Amino acid sequence: MKQWLQATGRSAYERLLSREVSGAPTHVAVIQDGNRRYARHHGEDASDGHRAGAKTTERVLEWCQDVGVEELTLYAFSTENFDRPPEEREALFDLLCEKLREFADSDRVHDNGVCIRVLGDVDLLPERVREAIEYAESRTRGYDRFVLNVALAYGGRNELLCAARSVARDVDRGELSPEDVDVETLESRLYDRPVRDVDLIIRTGGDERTSNFLPWHANGNEAAVFFCTPYWPEFSKADFLRGIRTYEHRAQSWRRTRARRALALLRAVSEPELAEARSVLRRFRDSLPTRERPDGDELEGGESSRPAD
Ligand code: FPP
Ligand code: MG
Repeated sequence: MKQWLQATGRSAYERLLSREVSGAPTHVAVIQDGNRRYARHHGEDASDGHRAGAKTTERVLEWCQDVGVEELTLYAFSTENFDRPPEEREALFDLLCEKLREFADSDRVHDNGVCIRVLGDVDLLPERVREAIEYAESRTRGYDRFVLNVALAYGGRNELLCAARSVARDVDRGELSPEDVDVETLESRLYDRPVRDVDLIIRTGGDERTSNFLPWHANGNEAAVFFCTPYWPEFSKADFLRGIRTYEHRAQSWRRTRARRALALLRAVSEPELAEARSVLRRFRDSLPTRERPDGDELEGGESSRPAD
């Protein structure tokens, strides 16, 4: 009876949270932490914790599709994880192989057009993992309704470092000029996978760090971050919906802040004041050090020289 009441209460709470969710993030990235602690708490081995965590992973994939998320990136094996004891590492590799193949064969993945991709320094992984990656990627390559990225042998700094080296090589060969290096140039060299900007990072297990995860796509995009205490195997749909709500509040307050700033600017800088400021600048421009002098455009005024918000 107590369990029934708890379950009924939980599902009512989930329904309530679901109703509050209106504009889901497009891309959610998850740091699935706390699996070994969960296992220890239940008197089990680390690998049991990872296996229990993989069940949550499957559920989260479904929840994402339910609320309209279009891309999910899972931190499943970091470059730092290579330092774990060999038996734990090998068991994790076995689990990853099994899950990648299971995903690639699942009806849900095919019915929902899920494209599976792996991000990371794949060459560092054992052959059996590379084969499972190839299997999952090749079976789902044609889909584009949902993207599931699995970060394996992934490290954010390493990703940026590889991209920077690749740019430097092309500049060195004379194939690229330094002035032409822009956001797209670098982005196209990040593990060769076009990943959308991340809107929301979720981390379970209580640690409040983003651990070298997607610095370009998440930090660079000022992604919202939702830290929560449940271990990954315990992460529930209500926790997930709370994460989505965090994103929505963030997005809403971000839009409000930008609008307020623009309004304050409009009110503070009326056209006569701008004209006066420009005339003062024109008169005293030469008294400024060269590096601080405004250019002709800025002094002439017009739309393009208006300050951005
Ligand atoms: C961190 O918890 C998690 C990992 C190192 C691996 C997570 C991988 C899975 C759950 C398998 C998912 C499968 C696919 C295909 C994506 P931890 O080991 O650091 O635990 P702790 O924080 O309690 O020490
Ligand atoms: Mg951990």
